[in-house]
Amino acid sequence: MNRIPSMEDFEKKIKRILITPEEIREAIRKAGEDISRLYDGNPILLVGILKGSFVFLSDLCRAVTAPCEIGFMCAKSYYNGTVSSGEVKITMDLEQDISRYHVVIAEDIVDTGRTLKDVVALLKKRNPLSLQVVTLLDKPDRRLVDFKADVSLFTIPDHFVIGYGLDCAEYFRNLPYIAEYNTEA
Ligand code: IMP
Ligand code: MG
Repeated sequence: MNRIPSMEDFEKKIKRILITPEEIREAIRKAGEDISRLYDGNPILLVGILKGSFVFLSDLCRAVTAPCEIGFMCAKSYYNGTVSSGEVKITMDLEQDISRYHVVIAEDIVDTGRTLKDVVALLKKRNPLSLQVVTLLDKPDRRLVDFKADVSLFTIPDHFVIGYGLDCAEYFRNLPYIAEYNTEA
């Protein structure tokens, strides 16, 4: 999609809803409870990987009752349309010294696994008290490197998906659900 899409173009690209807002809300409520219990009042740094995780992180942090700080990193994985080019760049880093925190990375989706493999390796070198990865979505059929999230809220088949923070060419992040993208329309 190289031009600003019309409302009609938008609707045609949404093939079908895979995960509803209610299903997302319930899964996040449970994940928030588990995180709050696990760290038992110790300092948590919830790290969102921009841009895709911004919606997930904002809901997840409000489901966590334990004290936590928020941090952001921007990791860009380059796409040609809906195909990953395999290049990952960290374009914005955390401000916090993570050696004082239990770090919880919140990611939108684990696809090839490259982004999180790189981000986790980088953050581990900084000696956090602990580190875990919570991903909203997991597409295990697409994995190209050895990586597994500690917590995955939904496992989905090999479809390109949009909504709830996930984009196609920067659009559709504002959909309140996860939908399959219509590559043919
Ligand atoms: P990776 O291939 O696991 O490194 O995933 C990198 C990033 O690509 C994810 O964090 C998403 O932002 C994006 N991505 C992967 N699969 C999809 C998809 O189906 N829809 C939208 N973005 C995706
Ligand atoms: Mg992402």
